[in-house]
Amino acid sequence: MAIDVKSLSDAFGAEVIGADLSRWDDDEQFRCIHDAFLNYGVIAIRNQDMTPDAQIAFAGRFGNLQGHVLKKFLLPEHPEILVLSNRRDKGEPIGIADAGRHWHTDMSYTERPPLGSMLYAHEIPPEGGDTLFANLHAAYDALPEALKDRISGLKGVYDYTRDYEKARKKNPDRPPLSEAQLASLPKVEHPMVRTHPETGRKALYVNEGHTTGVAGMAEEEGRALLSELFEFSTRPEFTYRHKWQRHDVLFWDNRRALHHALPYDQQYTRHMHRVTVAGDIPV
Ligand code: SIN
Repeated sequence: MAIDVKSLSDAFGAEVIGADLSRWDDDEQFRCIHDAFLNYGVIAIRNQDMTPDAQIAFAGRFGNLQGHVLKKFLLPEHPEILVLSNRRDKGEPIGIADAGRHWHTDMSYTERPPLGSMLYAHEIPPEGGDTLFANLHAAYDALPEALKDRISGLKGVYDYTRDYEKARKKNPDRPPLSEAQLASLPKVEHPMVRTHPETGRKALYVNEGHTTGVAGMAEEEGRALLSELFEFSTRPEFTYRHKWQRHDVLFWDNRRALHHALPYDQQYTRHMHRVTVAGDIPV
């Protein structure tokens, strides 16, 4: 089967046409998709029929899969899958209904943030619930030289709990974090300029959701620098907006892309399965 790759926007992103991910063990198909993933940063593959087993098997070709600290929302029998959904079962939420409602890279608050995340759309609302992506290579390349010099060698501080608590105030379905969960979430630091381990390209690596300060910098100065970088990295010219279709598979490279999930009318259902592929310590 011939695979075609078609760019989705001026910023980045591509649609991979002609793939059938139920054939996850097809080496030639995998090689084409892997190339598109590295070249375009976000890839969309439409009209897929992905069982949990097929999604796990296909994503597993990119590396080991990792779970999530919110164990309550992992799919029973398939704990590699995090359920992002506003569906309820006997009144209880079965997934996170408001995941990623800010610019972030998934699990960047961990020592080894995931290489990529793969989201499969089981059900989508008729409107709303789009996902925005920002190209961090393009953002880094476009930074003024003085700002590149200023952030070279600096590290951002990452913290999951600040944002989690903010989200919990708005969404009582989010359970309080237990002592054990908090203990597994120490603050970490990552370089603000990250070199992609597979392509060698530099990315502006900070995000509004999880980067809470700059290591060794006074709080106010750090906050001002971060605000400037957050604003810069999400300029419209670096972004792609994905309008979901039912049965889309989207796979994005967390080492070079930010994303932001947009809200939707809660009278409709948005039901997604996400898996994350383990990554490296950012350098
Ligand atoms: C996320 O993985 O942050 C959520 C993305 C989405 O639901 O569009």
